[in-house]
Parts: sequence; C-alpha cells; structure tokens
Amino acid sequence: MPHLSAGPDDVSAILSRLTAARADRDFIAGVELHLPRLHDLFLRLYGDRPDGRERLASVVDLAHRSWDARPAGLKALDRERASAPDWFESERMLGGVCYVDRYAGGLHGIRESIPYFRELGLTYLHLMPLFESPEGNSDGGYAVSSYRRVNPALGTMEELTELAAELRRAGISLVVDFIFNHTSNEHEWAQKAVAGDAGCEDFYLIFPDRALPDAYERTTREIFPDDHPGSFVQLPDGRWIWATFYHFQWDLNYANPAVFEAMAGEMLFLANRGVEILRMDAVAFIWKRLGTACESLPEAHLLLQAFNAVLRMAAPSLLFKSEAIVHPDEVISYISPEECQLSYNPLQMALTWEALATRDGRLLQQALERRHALPDATAWVNYVRSHDDIGWTFADEDAAELGVQGYPHRRFLNDFYVGRVEGSFSRGVPFQENPRTGDARIAGTTASLAGIEAGDAGGEDRVILAHALALSTGGIPLLYLGDEVAQLNDYSYRRNRAEAGDSRWVHRPHRPEQNYADRADATTPAGRVFARLTRLIEVRRSTPELAGNDLIAFDAHVDSVVAFLRPGEAGAAVLVIANVADHAVEIDALTLSGLDPDAVDLIANESVALAGGLTAPAHGVLWLRVGMR
Ligand code: GLC
Repeated sequence: MPHLSAGPDDVSAILSRLTAARADRDFIAGVELHLPRLHDLFLRLYGDRPDGRERLASVVDLAHRSWDARPAGLKALDRERASAPDWFESERMLGGVCYVDRYAGGLHGIRESIPYFRELGLTYLHLMPLFESPEGNSDGGYAVSSYRRVNPALGTMEELTELAAELRRAGISLVVDFIFNHTSNEHEWAQKAVAGDAGCEDFYLIFPDRALPDAYERTTREIFPDDHPGSFVQLPDGRWIWATFYHFQWDLNYANPAVFEAMAGEMLFLANRGVEILRMDAVAFIWKRLGTACESLPEAHLLLQAFNAVLRMAAPSLLFKSEAIVHPDEVISYISPEECQLSYNPLQMALTWEALATRDGRLLQQALERRHALPDATAWVNYVRSHDDIGWTFADEDAAELGVQGYPHRRFLNDFYVGRVEGSFSRGVPFQENPRTGDARIAGTTASLAGIEAGDAGGEDRVILAHALALSTGGIPLLYLGDEVAQLNDYSYRRNRAEAGDSRWVHRPHRPEQNYADRADATTPAGRVFARLTRLIEVRRSTPELAGNDLIAFDAHVDSVVAFLRPGEAGAAVLVIANVADHAVEIDALTLSGLDPDAVDLIANESVALAGGLTAPAHGVLWLRVGMR
C-alpha cells in the first residue's frame, strides 16, 4: 500500500468509491467539504506511516456507516443547528454539571431531576464520567474501561440514549466527557497490550527499560506526584508504560493512526447516542515528542482538527469543548470552529478567586481586557469551580506588569485558600502539594472557599459575586449543581480508601438534600444563595446584551472593582461592576460621564442615577443597563 499522496488523488479515490457505492447525497456533500482538510491533516500526522492511506480510507468508511446509522431525530438536530450556528451563544444558555451517582443515584435519578433542571433554566447538562471503569479508585471515572458500556451502577447505554432524547425534548443538551488521552488499565486494548498482542501494544507507549522514560522525563512535568513520580509506571513484566495521570490511566499512542481510527469510532458511537457536546479531556497531553514538555504540541491541535473533520461528516451538530487547564496562551490555541468550539475559561475562574483573596480586581480586569476575545462561532464556558482543583494558571508576564510575581503569589493564594493565612475566610484543602517544586493546587466547594463554611460575613456575597461574573462575561455559564444551594465541603472522603488520596473529593459531595430542602427558606444560607442566584439567572435570560462574547473593559479607577460593558443594540449596554473589597467603594461621576445619567439596575429592577457617581457595595455586584454616549 503506497503512502498518502500530497496531491488530490487520495481524496478523489475515496469520493469515487463513495459515489459508486451510492452513498447518501448529504453524506457525500459533507465528505466533499471536509475530506480535503482531513486528508491534509492525515498527511501531516501520518504522512510517513505506511498505513496512513489505508487508515484514512477506513476512517471515512467508519464515518459513512455512522452517518447511515444516525437516528433521524439527530439528523434533524444537525439541520436545526446548521440553520442557527450561534445557538450556544444565547443569553438563555446555562450549563449544569454533576456526578450521576452522587447527585441522583443513577441515570434514572437524573431523568427524575429534569423538572428541577428546567426550573433552574439549564440548557446544557454535563454528566461526569459514566462509563465502565475500574472498581475503587478510577479517578472519578476518568479511567475508562469501555466507551460503549455505561458503568452498571449508574445504568445502561440504552438508558443514556433515552435520557439524551428526553433532555433534548426539554431543551437541554447532553454533554459527556471524551476521555481520549488515556484508557484505564482494564480496557480491552490495555489488557491485550499487557498480554503481548502486537497490535494493541502499539496503542500505548511501552518501553523495555528506563532509557527513553528517563529521557522524556527530563522535560515533562509531574501531574499527579502523590500517585507516582514522573510520567511512567512499571508493568509487572518490568517494562515501563506512559501514565501522565494515575498509574492506572495509560496514555494512548496517537502516533499510531490505528488509535485515531479506533477513537474516532468511539466518538461517533457516542454522537449517535444523542450526546451533543463532547468535553475533550486533557487535550494538552495527547501528543508526545522527546525533548519537549509533551504538552500542547502542534500535533495535538492537528489531531483535534482531524477528529473535528470526521464529526463534520458524520455528526455535524456535535461540538467539542476543550479542557486545557494550562497557560492562557495555550488555552486559547485550542479554540476555533475547526478545533474546539467551546472551552473552559480557567483563567477567569482562577482570577475570580485571586481577586476575592487579594481584594484587588486588577489581574482579572487585565485578563478581561486582553484575554477574553475569541474567534467568531466559539464560546467560553465560564465557571466558578469544577470537579477539579483550582490551579493558578495566570500568565506570569501579565502579573509582572502589575508588579505581582507569579511564584510567591501562587504560594500566597494556595496558603490563603487552605486557611494558612491569618484572617483567611476560606476552608479549602491542598491538592497535589509537591514539596520538591513548591507547586500545589487547592480544592473546596464554592461556599467553603468563599467563606460560608467559616461563617465569614461576606461568604454569601462572594458566592453570588463569583457566579455573577460567570453569568455576565459571555459564553455559557456553568453551575456545579449543589453550589446554587451553597453546599459545603464534604470531608468524608478521608475515611474512604479509594478517595482518601485525592482531596478533590472534598468538593464532590453527594446531593446536599438538606440544602435543597432549605432552598425556599430565606433564614438559611441555602435559601438566600438560591434566591439571589436564581434571580441572576432570570435576569441573564432576559438580557440580550449578555449573549455572545463582546466585552469592553471599563476602568472604574478603583483597584477592587472589576468592571466591563456588554454592548447591545443601539448604544445600549450592560455595565457590570463587581467590587471584591470588604467595604463599599465609590466610583466617581467623572468616570461614569461617558454614560447616560439614567441607568437601570437590572438585578434590583430599579432606576439609578449616575450623575453623582455610584456606590459599589462590599463584595457586591451591579448589572446596570446604561446608554453609551
Ligand atoms: C481531566 C479531568 C480530571 C482528571 C484528568 C485525567 O483533567 O478533569 O478530573 O483527573 O483529566 O483524566
């Protein structure tokens, strides 16, 4: 079999074959549009592989079979999305994320929660990993043993398919993880690799001795040092296998096009079950090259683009959301219509917490000013916290401009959030503290990090402020379900063998029943937070200026104030003001003189006069509809 050719021959050969086989016209149209790009990407990724050409042809066959099997309801969705490609930028979008077992006991429980999700206004539901995975520690399901079987403790694939359809009818898009950097060591491919199956051995990165692992580790960073040092673990037969995360999560070898094909098959399988968005897990790690950090290499982008091209042919409405918790320059590099249309916004998340700790909004303000813009047809997913730890992924060079030194500042933030700083309001827990590098991250629920657990007077306000930012900067705001009723840390993980070594479990509590029971009771934190947060959600839903991603930073001339305009039609805009200080501050009349003097406070639903300046309350937020002069 000859190698892939640089000219149009491979593409024409595949297209003629599809025409001869009388493939569906819509499918052929998609292939005509996207195959040249896929071919080009294959050439760059696999041009030197003797099986590159054969693999490209079989990937297209796979897409063809998948398209033919795609249910009519999903093809209708494909058409609907094609006619409104900016659907996910609407002010009505609201995401929720939860663990199926912890939040609802199983897929049936998620189904029963749909009325509540609708009440809350969710249009996007991310169910944490729900596939078959090892007993005991499975990194919360991020070690996948089969992409086609649901963890039997949660339900079945049929139930998941039905749930997806039911969510769709309720206007909620189902989001699941595509954990494609690694499989669990119990995956069939992994087991075969260990048993010496030559095809499967090449699915992973296995080395006979320490020579290459040592060479790679000279430039890679340790991700889970509590679990094992470096990036490799030893197999029982003495060989070494690449494991970036836990020792039971084995990295796939994407330099082998058979891995690409196999994973494209798993992706299309999920697409046809009704999943609308795939959260592309750990995107930065998928390609390795000796002498580099093995993170965010150019080929990682090419791979994502190639997966994307396959989808455009066979499941065109499906979107990718990138999970890259790395330097902000790298985060943005994954976001484009051809790669990941959506991305977590870890910078805004981390800097919101940074501002709350320092009572200084300038780093966040600077990030909104220079790192918020996105390509058209893409969006941020803005969140206050996730199931993961919080890492301080701001750019040192940005901080330096404000006179802040990255390393000591991160240390301060870690100490502050785990309560080691005098006067801290936070009850966080350290995660992966690495004494050798001084690196650490923090864990904790929103309410516990913000001060509610410690009984700090500003705790509830901070929870609201953080969410108000996520709800107003644009894109898709994402709630960690349970945080809307101020759930606190759950320390029971320390008594559980499978969880004790991973402090992220502190912020993954079971559904906080009591808090939900209290949600209408304004004498409880749960009731107050719920009322204020649902008010914000309601306002956002009826405020078109909050759609999309346009944002103009507004200099309030007060260090503790983060402020920006979200422009709307005909000179109207929403001015967002968030004051992270523990006292009220004044924004003077001159600063506001570019705006019409009559504004409307959207949250309180009352008019405000700006002519004499404005008071921003202690850890308070204002959403003002203003006229720009
Ligand atoms: C992602 C997940 C995290 C997991 C890791 C390895 O970062 O969010 O929870 O530990 O990938 O799969």
